[in-house]
Amino acid sequence: MSEADSNIDKPKLYGEYLQLPSLLKCQSMTSAEAGKPVHDEHLFIITHQAYELWFKQILFELDSVREIFTVPVLDEGKARHINNRLSRITLILKLLVDQFLILETMTPLDFLEFRTRLATASGFQSLQFRLIENKIGLKEDSRVKYNQQHYMKVFNDPENIAMLQDSISSPSLLTLVERWLERTPGLAKAEFHFWERYQCAVNRWLEDQWYKPVKDENDPEVKETLMAEYQKQKDSFDTVFDPEKHQKSMERGERRLSHKAFQGALMISLYRDESRFNQPFHLLTLLVDIDSLMTKWRYNHVMMVQRMIGSKVGTGGSSGYHYLRSTISDRYKVFLDLFNLSTFLIPRDYIPPLTITMKRTLSSVINGDCVDDEVRASKECSP
Ligand code: HEM
Repeated sequence: MSEADSNIDKPKLYGEYLQLPSLLKCQSMTSAEAGKPVHDEHLFIITHQAYELWFKQILFELDSVREIFTVPVLDEGKARHINNRLSRITLILKLLVDQFLILETMTPLDFLEFRTRLATASGFQSLQFRLIENKIGLKEDSRVKYNQQHYMKVFNDPENIAMLQDSISSPSLLTLVERWLERTPGLAKAEFHFWERYQCAVNRWLEDQWYKPVKDENDPEVKETLMAEYQKQKDSFDTVFDPEKHQKSMERGERRLSHKAFQGALMISLYRDESRFNQPFHLLTLLVDIDSLMTKWRYNHVMMVQRMIGSKVGTGGSSGYHYLRSTISDRYKVFLDLFNLSTFLIPRDYIPPLTITMKRTLSSVINGDCVDDEVRASKECSP
C-alpha cells in the first residue's frame, strides 16, 4: 500500500478534514499589519469570505443542475434532483440577502479607518459572482457598462479569464430551461395543439370580460373608456400571439425565451395541477425565486454601500452607489418572461379542457374533468 493510500484510510480529525488550520489563517487584517488594528476589519474580511464560500456552493449546485439538464429525457427522478438543488440555491441566497445585516453593524466611521488600505480591491472583482451571473444566463448586453468598460477587463489571470469565457460560451441555465420548455408535451399540432386552443380561450374571455360590457353600455363616454380598455387588453395578448411581435420584444431585450418555450411555460402554469406538470411548475417557481433573490441581494448590497460610503466613488473605480443602483433593473432579471407569465393567465373557467389523450399523457389517473377528442369541438370555439 502506498503512503497516499494509507493517508486516505487514516481516520481524520475534525480540523484536518475541514482543513481548518489553513482556512482560519486567511484573515489578515491590513490595519493590524500597519500597526493600527481596526476592530471591525475582522468582520469585514470574514463576511466577504463567507459570501465567497457560499458562492462556491451555489456554483457547485448550478453546475450539477446544468449537467442534469443536458440529458435528452428529464424523468421524475432527475426533475426532483433539479428542484432539490435549485431549492437549496434559493435558501443560500436568502441567507446571503440577510447576511448584509451583520456587516451593517460596522459604522461608516469605523469603515473609513481601514477603507484606504483596500486600495483598488472591490467586490467588482469577484470572479465567482460573475460566474454565477453568467451561468444563470445574464446576457452580456444586459449589463450596465462599468466606466464604459467590459467587466472582464478587471481580470488578469489567464485561468480566471478562461473560466469566465467558458461560463459565457457553455449553455446557461436559461438556455437549458428554454430547450426543455420547447419540448413541453401538448404543444405540437399532432398532440393537444395548446397554442391554438389557448388563443381561442383568450378571445372568448376578452369578449365576455371586456367586449360585452362595451356593447351593453349606452353612455358614449363610458363606452369609449371601456373600448380603450378592451383594446389595451387585446394589444397586450397580441404581443404573444404574434410570433413577429414576440421576436421584436426579444430583440429589445424585453423577452428572453423563444416563442415555443414561452408557450411551454404558459401551458405548465395553466395545467400545473396535472401530476406530470407538478414538478415542472415547481421548477419555474424556483427560477423566479432565484431571480427575485438575486435582485434582493443587489438591493441590500447597494443600501449598505450608500450607508457606508454615501456617494463616494468605489474602491474599484466606479461611481459606487449610482453604478450599483442602475443594476437593480429588469435588465438583470434572467427569467423575466416567467415573471410576466401572470399577464397572460386566464381564469380557470376559460382554460381549454384537456382531451382524454392529453389527460393520459399528463396524468396516471383519468377523471371526469376532461373531454373526449370528438366532443371537445362542442365545448370550445373553433380556431
Ligand atoms: C462595506 C461594505 C461594502 C462596500 C462599501 C461595498 C462597495 C461596493 C462598491 C462601491 C461597488 C461598485 C464597484 C466599485 O467601484 O468598487 C461594489 C461592487 C460589488 N460588491 Fe461590494 N461593497 C461592500 C461589501 C460587499 C460584500 C460583503 C460583498 C460580498 C461578496 C460584495 C460584493 C460585491 C460585488 C459582487 C460587486 C459587483 C456588483 C456588480 O457589478 O453588479 N460587496 N461594492
